[in-house]
Amino acid sequence: MNQIFKTKSLEHVMAESEGGERLKRVLGPWSLTALGIGAIIGTGIFVLVGQAARDITGPALMLSFVVAGLACIFAALCYAEFASMAPVAGSAYTYAYLTLGELMAWVIGWDLVLEYAVASCTVAHGWSKYLGKLLAMMGMAVPGVVHEAPFSLHPNTGEVIVGHVEKLKDLEGNDIKVKEKDASGQEREIYDLKKVDGKEVVTRTYLDLPAALIALAITAILVKGIKESAGFNALMVAIKVSVVLLVIGVGAFYVDPKNWENFAPYGFGGLSFFGHVVWGELRPNGLPRGMLAGAAMIFFAYLGFDAVSTNAEEAKNPKRDLPIGIIGSLVICTVLYIAVAGVLTGMMPYGQIDKDAPVAEAFARLNMPWFTALIIIGAVTGITSVLLVMMLGQARIFLAMARDGLLPKALTKVHPTFKTPWWATILTGLLVALGGSLLPLDILADLTSIGTLFAFVVVCSAVLVLRITQPNLERPFKAPLGIATPIIGIALCLLLMFSLSWENWARLIIWLMVGLCIYFGYGVWHSKLRNNVGK
Ligand code: ALA
Repeated sequence: MNQIFKTKSLEHVMAESEGGERLKRVLGPWSLTALGIGAIIGTGIFVLVGQAARDITGPALMLSFVVAGLACIFAALCYAEFASMAPVAGSAYTYAYLTLGELMAWVIGWDLVLEYAVASCTVAHGWSKYLGKLLAMMGMAVPGVVHEAPFSLHPNTGEVIVGHVEKLKDLEGNDIKVKEKDASGQEREIYDLKKVDGKEVVTRTYLDLPAALIALAITAILVKGIKESAGFNALMVAIKVSVVLLVIGVGAFYVDPKNWENFAPYGFGGLSFFGHVVWGELRPNGLPRGMLAGAAMIFFAYLGFDAVSTNAEEAKNPKRDLPIGIIGSLVICTVLYIAVAGVLTGMMPYGQIDKDAPVAEAFARLNMPWFTALIIIGAVTGITSVLLVMMLGQARIFLAMARDGLLPKALTKVHPTFKTPWWATILTGLLVALGGSLLPLDILADLTSIGTLFAFVVVCSAVLVLRITQPNLERPFKAPLGIATPIIGIALCLLLMFSLSWENWARLIIWLMVGLCIYFGYGVWHSKLRNNVGK
């Protein structure tokens, strides 16, 4: 029993990182910051903000970004402290191994699959949707039958259904738009048409093919090399940051401060406790709304800064550059996000903000087709780089877990020429291609945020534990404010977790249970630490 709570020593982890098959150290502070921004700006700011502003927060979305940003800053300071102390692959997983023991390390490694692989599936879907828009602008269309997962959640009842509901009244009794024609004016193919209650039309779909293809293409780039990946990423980051800056700069001219007058139409709350709303209003579908609920929803937009820490082993000067990359990318994105939220909610009354492509649509309404096209291109590139960094991170976590014997040894293989963990990368690519093309978006997106918040709570707790148990350890970067930083980080992340719905908690618990079964079925028997291999 003691064995599964056994921790690794920092010296052991550092010694491990010196020998054996290692990754190339090629990333400097700029590349690391760009990797962070690459992972952060994507689906969240280009897609999620629409629904958040319209249905959950109103203009108080700006404040939601501040709250979620604060939770991330405190968690980021803890990540930075750890990353500078133990600059090896594995991120939160390795940090947990050092402080909380092997079982907790496995739990967090398994949980990180939610953050990286499952988020990548979500993002691959978002990519596919924006690609559809881009092609439509060029007069082409992705056939509907290969543009959606084969099953989905019924938007009203939450039941799993085969196919997708195309027409239905929403919970407020309004017609949900029927996608009879796509943007290029072509009819969408409808297969196996069924009518239920005369109110809805369900289309049969087979898979989201573009989502699978982008996942496989990114896998190929990642196998080829971290340096190429970083160069490709820097280009995409430059494009998307320019587009975001243009949105802020141009949009500012169209802001009417009157639109901000009803600042928090749904209040500042939105806090629930396992399904019971303790502060805030309910939406017609029974979920909480208000500024805090909005913060929990758009938390997804911040996800990714910690991906920098998964590349620790490829950093040239990790002790200095990892904290710069983690905190720098987060601060830059926080400022950009608050500005985009301000512009978007200032350009039109919040009730008129588009749910699917809010930023592009805001400019389409101003009759600026070229600018809209530019935003769509920015979104597609932006989302591509998120996918690149997230998948990169997942492969490194698999690598770290396999090195410890908790996953099969094959995943530790480093490519002889490219020096990349190619088996772990290919496994990641296959999982994302399958999940992204076959699983419905709603389930994937919900799981991601709660999984990430849980990881942040564990990292902050691990920093707190080490500060108390090993106060004299060398900490090249020390988070300010003493133990207050991890404590505030834990409190803010828990606040956001409790602003998510009860279903999310249930899915997280089921996911962790499955993980425990795998650990006790495999990992515990093969663990190197347990078997004293390499100690
Ligand atoms: N933060 C990333 C995004 O918004 C995951 O796409």
